[in-house]
Amino acid sequence: MRHFLSVDDVTGDELLALLDRADELKAERAARHRAGSSLVGDQLQGRSVALVFEKPSLRTRASFEVGVHELGGKALPMWDGEVGLGRREAVADVGAVLGRYVHAIVIRTFGQDDLEELAAAAGVPVVNALTDHEHPCQALADLQTVREHHGELAGRTLTYVGDGNNVAHSLLLAGAKVGLSVRIAHPEGYAPAPDVVAAAQRHAGASGAEVVVTTDPRAAVDGADAVYTDVWASMGQESEAAERAAKFADFQVTPQLMAHAADGAVFLHCLPAHRGEEVAAEVMASPAARVFDQAENRLHAQKALLATLLG
Ligand code: CP
Ligand code: NVA
Repeated sequence: MRHFLSVDDVTGDELLALLDRADELKAERAARHRAGSSLVGDQLQGRSVALVFEKPSLRTRASFEVGVHELGGKALPMWDGEVGLGRREAVADVGAVLGRYVHAIVIRTFGQDDLEELAAAAGVPVVNALTDHEHPCQALADLQTVREHHGELAGRTLTYVGDGNNVAHSLLLAGAKVGLSVRIAHPEGYAPAPDVVAAAQRHAGASGAEVVVTTDPRAAVDGADAVYTDVWASMGQESEAAERAAKFADFQVTPQLMAHAADGAVFLHCLPAHRGEEVAAEVMASPAARVFDQAENRLHAQKALLATLLG
């Protein structure tokens, strides 16, 4: 039994194998679509997957629910904090109970420690569908999207502009593992966690990638093959939104900033996007934007993940 609580739960080779499987599932789904056949396979036949959400979601909830359906399994979405993780019931008890019913638990919550506690008690694979610390499923779809566009990851550079948050952490770890250099440009006081940067630097040493953390967005974007941003205030940080908007004002991804990226660079955003804040509307509408491919790839990448964990 394996969990996917962090990008660090898989090796670089395992990451690349997941991306290969995601590409295969994407091609197979398109072929079934063209042929007018059912999109439902049998990899999870007779199996159930709990989807627990303690924070809002569009993409993650929809892509996991459709993904489990298309693998022939049954998804049990639990929504709007109805489980009351750690409030209505102890975190470990929730894991132990769900593990008696289902074959895997996908969970979006706040603390990485709660996720780990739940996983330790569950007895079935647990998948991180976003915590305050990481968003590893997002990173799978992000790498799939970059690879689709550029053909390979090793030797390329992705620059993330903005908050050193969950999305930045997973990108740092995932990129560094597969040889994709990752540069993070953040405002003072919003750097990614030092332990994540140190881990990414170790992975980069082995893969030949580079990890750069800076407060200069222009220098960070220079020559990048992909430019990525995320909201300035994450879920749970709503009360900091005004303070952050002031501190992040120079970190908007504008057409002027994109002009410093390499020819053929793509713009990525995990979404939801706030046009006029972290990204200019023109960039979202530009041909460089691959944000909806990225959102679609959540489906394929997570199907690959579930089929592998439960295979
Ligand atoms: N990118 C992402 O995880 O979107 P949701 O929050 O809508 O699931
Ligand atoms: N960093 C954002 C990502 C949303 C998908 C958040 O945690 O709200």
